[in-house]
Amino acid sequence: MSKINRRQFFILSAASAVTASMASWAIVKDNKTPRQTKILLSKLHQSSDGLLELDLEANLNRVNLGSQSAYLLTYNGQVPAPRLEAKAGDTVRINFTNNLSQPTNLHYHGLHIPPTGNADNAFLSIPPGESLTYEFTIPKNHLSGTFWYHPHPHGYVAEQLFGGLAGLFIVRGELDEIPEIKAAKEEFIVLKDFALDASGRIQSPNHMEIMMGREGQLLTVNGQVNPNFTIPKGGLLRLRILNASPSRFYRVSLENHPLYLIATDGGAIDAPIELQELLLAPGERAEVLVRGDREPGQYQLLTLPYDRGGMGMMGRGGHMMRGRGHRMGRSFQTNPQVLATLSYQDSVATLPLPQQLLPVETLPEPKTVRRFELSMAMAPRMGMVFTFNGQTFDPERVDTEVKLNTVEDWELINVDPDLMDHPIHLHLNRFQVVSRDGQSEPYRAWKDTVLVRGGETVRIRIPFRDFAGKTVYHCHILDHEDLGMMGIVEIEPAA
Ligand code: C2O
Ligand code: CU
Ligand code: CU
Repeated sequence: MSKINRRQFFILSAASAVTASMASWAIVKDNKTPRQTKILLSKLHQSSDGLLELDLEANLNRVNLGSQSAYLLTYNGQVPAPRLEAKAGDTVRINFTNNLSQPTNLHYHGLHIPPTGNADNAFLSIPPGESLTYEFTIPKNHLSGTFWYHPHPHGYVAEQLFGGLAGLFIVRGELDEIPEIKAAKEEFIVLKDFALDASGRIQSPNHMEIMMGREGQLLTVNGQVNPNFTIPKGGLLRLRILNASPSRFYRVSLENHPLYLIATDGGAIDAPIELQELLLAPGERAEVLVRGDREPGQYQLLTLPYDRGGMGMMGRGGHMMRGRGHRMGRSFQTNPQVLATLSYQDSVATLPLPQQLLPVETLPEPKTVRRFELSMAMAPRMGMVFTFNGQTFDPERVDTEVKLNTVEDWELINVDPDLMDHPIHLHLNRFQVVSRDGQSEPYRAWKDTVLVRGGETVRIRIPFRDFAGKTVYHCHILDHEDLGMMGIVEIEPAA
């Protein structure tokens, strides 16, 4: 496989658009008549007496999306999927049935649970029509936070997620017990974009859209278009936000209100941090507080434009466009877009912001530092692929061997400044970002997905704890993952 530069990429990708390597990109063709259901707020399933048990079925369903009727891939007929809630120490049992026309499986993004057996095992494949019971225990010392679940069958992940398959997995605990947070009004925000044709079916992306990572023009929050949230005057609103889109980035901002960051992917930070906007790459989560201290009225929750880098592309009119600020695609927006509306309703005694949250552990400086170059290449018979250290995913190959109970630094190097941003995600073990281009991060936080911009080098520090076995790291622009940008890390038991 040969490395390529951007100009070669342009020529090659335009050429490979007409080659026959599209097999894994075909949109779901389901011959069954979709079921008719009326819909739909996602249902909540909570654990009781230490057990969270439910039946979960993936299928093609007709749902209402905004004002439209759409045929989407759903869990239990719902978009977003049912919200699951459990506590540290609970057992989770999910009786899962695949009624899609493709293989699928379940991944529990951000949970620290075994990567083996019927737990968070990305290597399982459940054929159409078959069932599997997932079962695992959330460790007693698991941090509380906003996690999620979605399919993970290599080659189909972008398509299945874009089709609608994703839901929140909340672990309740210490953070929820901080008095000011407990008193806050809690809302969940699942950000998901869709591309529908006139009949309400998911549109197949073209070759370029797959290279960029597919995006849709219909922006939804919890499966609704511009839903309304309320905040009491004087009170606090806690927003728990998930970017469940396969490729779209969100720069979230709320008119006239700063956002107070209280938690990132893996749980609480030390103390609230005031933000004017919050950037969420695919897969990332954040929790923020909003203070109801402005003039009562209506305020828009917006997403601001974000340029996630181009690759040198053919524009719609056939002329060449290159680099940042010139990216192609239906999706590039130069204006803010409305996600939701926040209105003041009622008033309560003034609730202050919490001063302290939960201490984030300091990790020891490790001896092992590994390097991962993020790039792309032209592969024989496959067309364009995305790579770690020049290699595409191979389920039979272990790329990285680590020892249980050690801490490592990984340097993620996005080689070409003209190329795209890649949000890199590691399963099973959370990490902390140490530095970006040598500049140390302003605060400590637990992450499982980190944005590496074109040309940037990001250093992350990972403790490999509790569980041995094989798991994966990959780009969370899921088309890139499906096109090879995934590697296997094997955690070997301590001697
Ligand atoms: Cu949310 Cu392996 O992914
Ligand atoms: Cu994950
Ligand atoms: Cu990527």
